[in-house]
Amino acid sequence: MNPTLEKLKNQFAQALVAAFGSDYAGVDAMLVSASNPKFGDYQSNAALSLAKQLGKPPRAIAETIIQHLDVSDICETPSVAGPGFINFTLKPAYLEAQLNAIQTDSRLGIALAKNPKRVVVDFSSPNIAKEMHVGHLRSTIIGDCIARILEFQGEDVLRLNHVGDWGTQFGMLIAYLREVCPEALTTANALDLGDLVTFYKKAKQGFDEDEAFQETARQEVVKLQAGAEDSRRAWQLLCEQSRREFQVIYDRLNIHLTERGESFYNPLLPAVVEDLDKAGLLVEDAGAKCVFLEGFTNKDGQPLPLIVQKSDGGYNYATTDLAALRYRIQKDGADRIIYVTDAGQANHFAGVLQVARKAGWIPDNVEIDHVPFGLVLGEDGKKLKTRSGETVRLKDLLAQAIAHARAVLEDCLKKENREESEEYKAQVAQVFGISAVKYADLSLNRISNYIFSYDKMVALQGNTAVYLLYAYVRIQGISRKGDIDFKDLGADAKILLQEKEELVLAKHLLQLGEVISNVEQDLLPNRVCEYLYELSKKFNQFFEQCPVLWSEEPVRTSRLMLCDLTARTLQLGLSLLGIQALERI
Ligand code: ARG
Repeated sequence: MNPTLEKLKNQFAQALVAAFGSDYAGVDAMLVSASNPKFGDYQSNAALSLAKQLGKPPRAIAETIIQHLDVSDICETPSVAGPGFINFTLKPAYLEAQLNAIQTDSRLGIALAKNPKRVVVDFSSPNIAKEMHVGHLRSTIIGDCIARILEFQGEDVLRLNHVGDWGTQFGMLIAYLREVCPEALTTANALDLGDLVTFYKKAKQGFDEDEAFQETARQEVVKLQAGAEDSRRAWQLLCEQSRREFQVIYDRLNIHLTERGESFYNPLLPAVVEDLDKAGLLVEDAGAKCVFLEGFTNKDGQPLPLIVQKSDGGYNYATTDLAALRYRIQKDGADRIIYVTDAGQANHFAGVLQVARKAGWIPDNVEIDHVPFGLVLGEDGKKLKTRSGETVRLKDLLAQAIAHARAVLEDCLKKENREESEEYKAQVAQVFGISAVKYADLSLNRISNYIFSYDKMVALQGNTAVYLLYAYVRIQGISRKGDIDFKDLGADAKILLQEKEELVLAKHLLQLGEVISNVEQDLLPNRVCEYLYELSKKFNQFFEQCPVLWSEEPVRTSRLMLCDLTARTLQLGLSLLGIQALERI
């Protein structure tokens, strides 16, 4: 929690006891950030909520509380407002001390978790031999950001890529591979199967149109499950090829994951069904083994089942997730499990969790979150497609974003009359383009559908990555212009807050820790984006009103320190989003 808020809460609790006796020790101070800066920084509604209990008017209660409050080292004398709110305004000297203290800290004063938790973040998770689509891109970007935030907090994070690398579709893929490339099943060398998506389409076509092929495909599934060597070899080949293609995207995004696909849990599936049976939860319905869910009904109001074993003996997506859940709790020692998928899978996870809970597989202290997100839409408001109506390939999408970023950059260079090398332009465009894609996705509340627009995401103005990257560079420019290395400001240099803009900036700088701990709870990365965007705006206001390099000492050093702290806060915040700040553009 925010240390200032913590201190205020402690003092408040003591004041309540001093004013009204020990019965009031546990009363919530109801402290929140003030809704409007003119009311100060924090506000308490406690007096209003105590009115009935104490049988006194709230304003009188507020006065009594203030008389007993000892917050003079933090705030100006608190004031009563409206029907009985208590307003707190932080003292400049207190803010100065806080800022001076974090100035020398690489974590900017943000504490590490006292008891690090083991957290599994299940994200990205594309399917073998299929296109990694924009939904997977969202999962990859949001999941990576959540993992980065938890890692920064000091949690022990396991980033798992739950790739769809198992299932009956491999029957047709292997059968087709046998047909078109029989040598692939016997050679030990890596093979390039060409474009896997086309390969998948052709195999599917064969499966849909040719009954004999369908039968071969079915037999292939049985052989693969029985562990036949050549079938496994074919399966591995397909997985390797997909993996190479996925890796190109992960490298571009600079995102790291540990692959642990569905196949990993395959040996654990029979035990899932057995244990559900032992727990008395299993019901046979038309040959399929299932657990009936509470609160899920079909159109006719009939309860819906979660099928864990099909009538042909095969297992499915949900069975694998049940096995994975148990494994992560028992073997990985997870205290928290976070699934990042599109909102369309909300029912799937709700069903899986309900069954696991009923079976007693989730200890009370294990927290499980499904982090849903909305669809990616084109600018026409429909599902994102290429002009010719095909699904957009991620490789092309990222290349397009980089090309758009390049155009914006070239434009800026032209306006500034600057010549730069090809290498430089390619590198900056790459950072701009990839950052733009990530930021555009993260800056919206993830629940909403997301309208994909290259032009908007690389815009120089507004809440975009490019805007923030420029803000950072501009601050570095101040140090270059003044020929000052921020690092040389010295340990005895002090921040002094006099102007309104300085105070506003100072207060905002001290709030990153609170924003991060909120995101750790509600898993909404857009809070970090909003914070950074606000920070840049507040910095600009400060920079417009308060001369930095032309001020007299000690104000000059103090303002340079504010510049440095802003730059470092931006850099840290961007790094949590998976965006690398550039020193110069
Ligand atoms: N492979 C799935 C898909 O593409 C996502 C898997 C998400 N994770 C999970 N544990 N079910 O939709």
